[in-house]
Amino acid sequence: MRKRTAKQLGTRHDLNYFKTWTRRKLALALLAACVPVLFLAWLGVQGLRGDSVPYSSGKMSRAHAVLGKQCDTCHANFVGTLRVGGFRKHAQDQACLTCHQAPAHHADLVTFTPTCGSCHAEHVGSVQLARTADQNCTQCHSDLKTTHGSPHMVNAILSFGKQHPEFAALKKPDLTTIAFNHSVHMKSGLLGPPGSKTRNVDLECSDCHRPSGEQQGPWRFGSAQWQHASANEAPLGPMRDSREALMGPISYDKHCIACHSLPFDTKAAGSVPHETPAVVDGFVRTALTQYLKTNPAAWRETEAATRRIPGVQQVALQAKSPDDWLKDRVASDETLLWGKTCKQCHAETTSPDAHDSQLGLPKIQPASMPTRWFSHSYFDHSAHSAVRCDSCHAAALTSARTSDVLIPGIDSCRSCHSGASNSSAESGCFLCHQYHDWQQRKPFKPVYTIPQLTGQAD
Ligand code: HEC
Ligand code: HEC
Ligand code: HEC
Ligand code: HEC
Ligand code: HEC
Ligand code: HEC
Ligand code: HEC
Ligand code: HEC
Ligand code: HEC
Ligand code: HEC
Repeated sequence: MRKRTAKQLGTRHDLNYFKTWTRRKLALALLAACVPVLFLAWLGVQGLRGDSVPYSSGKMSRAHAVLGKQCDTCHANFVGTLRVGGFRKHAQDQACLTCHQAPAHHADLVTFTPTCGSCHAEHVGSVQLARTADQNCTQCHSDLKTTHGSPHMVNAILSFGKQHPEFAALKKPDLTTIAFNHSVHMKSGLLGPPGSKTRNVDLECSDCHRPSGEQQGPWRFGSAQWQHASANEAPLGPMRDSREALMGPISYDKHCIACHSLPFDTKAAGSVPHETPAVVDGFVRTALTQYLKTNPAAWRETEAATRRIPGVQQVALQAKSPDDWLKDRVASDETLLWGKTCKQCHAETTSPDAHDSQLGLPKIQPASMPTRWFSHSYFDHSAHSAVRCDSCHAAALTSARTSDVLIPGIDSCRSCHSGASNSSAESGCFLCHQYHDWQQRKPFKPVYTIPQLTGQAD
């Protein structure tokens, strides 16, 4: 039997193996050393040429692709607000703020401020940087706390589709003071303006409501002179301003006048202007004075006193003088105007505290018609132009009172903005909300020249 000692075994190996350089090993080592050296050299050359693309961690967003060669516009070092140059590992918020305004979100209430880059993900080739992930919002809003304690709003919001509060606007009544009954007006065969061929009309929502950018008309009922529909179907321009997202305000002159004129006296044709009572009062006086000038004998007629005045006894009185006639006639015309004509729409005119005591004229309450219902959210009708008005505003066909709120609730939005599958409409927080407090925007002074941004020589 062969005896093997450790020593014998040890001599079987070349103890200097690792110290000697075979040709093969030399080649491998050279290669290992050269690749980084070559790479570093290449990087250095690129750097000297001012091209930092190779360091980039991914494709730039569409909007920032123009800065693709100027990495240090974002990756710069700052001392305070002073830029001191050089490539910095992390992009700093100050860098973004040299090109952008982005006023902070409830600066006085937030418990911390996320970095710009945590929401606006760069180097992932975003088409739209503002499409931020919900997680950026729910990191606070899933359990909202403020520097002043509990927030004065719902504090647990997780996603629009699953956990988001009903819209606050639906919880308060509509405080508009103009009397209006949608269901009466939306009935088929409504009595139209005098002078129309058939006298009966079917109103469309667009006879009164059109986007703010499409207010120029013509309006079907915007003139006391009835216009036939065919003459009015001038095509609306295709150029919609997306910021003109909401419907324009209701106006008596554009939407009511043709059917609801404001006649004031059997002696004078036409209507009073749709103005304040003081202006209307002046108009009535002038019109009747004018009438008396052209019909000097009119004051001797007894007709004035036989006219129907609500609440006044019908006694035949003979005016004592032209002045007396005028005074009486103005008073009876205005009693009818304030008490009946204006009151049909301005229900509040006769409440005692709504009186202008100095002139003895009623005061018309401000119409107070909101054109924006969601103060904390953005909405755009033009993005929903494929949907019938009454499919969202179903209540507009049945509502009898102004105080009814006709704005759709969250469930109707969720039929599309469900966030459930990729077949539904976008449902990210950013779609409907602003994060930045854009009202705090101040005049802004750009600092870069074109070559500084593009990296091209002057
Ligand atoms: C518009 C601003 C902007 C520009 C321009 C820009 N970056 Fe970035 N970069 C960012 C933001 C934001 C991040 C992510 C936040 C962070 O870690 O700094 C980031 C992250 C990086 C990271 C990863 C850092 C880390 O810690 O993980 C690298 C590497 C990088 N950028 C390289 C580049 C290079 C190279 C260029 C030039 C081709 C460039 N960036 C241009 C904004 C920018
Ligand atoms: C050197 C100037 C510059 C710097 C620095 C810069 N941007 Fe921009 N940014 C632009 C330009 C140019 C556009 C395109 C025009 C526009 O939309 O304002 C843009 C667009 C945007 C947009 C809107 C475009 C979209 O797709 O939604 C966002 C958001 C934005 N930048 C965020 C940032 C953030 C966050 C930083 C810092 C990490 C940053 N920017 C740094 C120049 C800059
Ligand atoms: C750092 C924490 C924080 C983050 C992140 C945050 N919020 Fe807020 N948010 C708050 C605070 C605090 C309030 C104010 C609460 C109050 O008024 O009581 C608020 C209020 C709001 C409001 C109601 C008032 C308003 O401004 O209209 C909305 C809507 C809102 N946030 C949406 C968002 C969205 C969308 C995002 C993500 C893009 C977001 N928030 C990210 C803390 C945060
Ligand atoms: C058919 C309904 C209707 C009648 C009748 C009517 N108005 Fe109006 N009025 C409106 C509407 C709608 C508005 C709000 C939009 C506008 O200003 O055109 C309004 C607004 C007003 C305003 C402005 C209120 C504000 O917001 O400050 C005054 C003043 C006014 N009307 C006076 C009168 C007077 C005076 C009469 C009677 C001579 C009258 N109106 C009759 C519908 C009517
Ligand atoms: C196409 C003609 C037409 C237009 C336009 C029109 N109305 Fe009317 N309106 C009518 C008719 C007809 C009635 C009477 C309906 C009935 O009693 O059946 C009426 C009734 C009313 C009444 C009384 C409702 C009730 O409950 O009895 C008010 C108030 C009123 N309209 C306000 C308005 C206002 C405000 C506008 C403009 C924004 C307007 N209308 C536009 C035709 C019109
Ligand atoms: C499809 C549109 C839409 C989306 C998506 C959406 N919201 Fe809202 N959000 C609204 C509307 C509308 C309101 C009611 C605003 C009002 O009444 O002024 C509202 C209200 C709020 C409020 C105020 C609540 C209160 O008590 O007043 C907060 C906070 C809020 N949303 C946060 C979020 C967050 C966080 C996300 C993402 C997880 C989100 N929202 C997604 C439409 C949306
Ligand atoms: C997808 C649902 C949807 C459809 C479809 C829709 N609306 Fe709206 N509408 C809303 C919402 C939500 C608001 C509240 C937005 C706000 O004021 O902030 C609103 C507000 C309104 C208002 C009151 C505020 C304003 O903008 O003046 C009117 C009037 C209105 N819509 C009329 C219409 C008409 C007319 C149509 C058809 C052309 C229509 N809507 C189609 C959802 C819808
Ligand atoms: C003859 C004019 C007229 C027509 C036609 C009309 N509206 Fe209105 N609408 C008004 C007036 C006046 C107001 C303001 C008084 C009120 O709030 O009821 C209003 C208010 C609204 C509001 C906001 C008020 C709230 O309480 O939510 C919505 C939404 C609305 N209308 C939708 C519609 C829709 C949808 C149609 C068609 C189905 C329609 N309207 C047809 C005159 C009209
Ligand atoms: C019939 C389906 C449908 C319904 C119902 C619907 N939406 Fe939308 N909405 C869409 C589509 C599709 C878009 C475009 C989405 C996109 O740009 O990615 C959109 C876009 C939007 C936008 C972005 C508009 C813009 O110009 O940026 C807002 C805000 C919005 N919807 C809010 C709402 C609210 C609030 C409701 C409920 C009152 C609602 N939507 C109901 C389909 C719908
Ligand atoms: C919590 C997430 C969040 C943070 C942090 C954040 N943003 Fe935004 N930013 C948004 C959202 C959501 C929008 C789109 C809604 C809006 O306009 O407020 C937006 C919009 C913008 C826009 C306008 C884009 C456009 O539509 O043209 C700019 C520019 C911008 N942000 C820059 C910045 C800068 C710079 C910072 C850092 C100081 C920053 N953001 C921090 C979420 C964020």
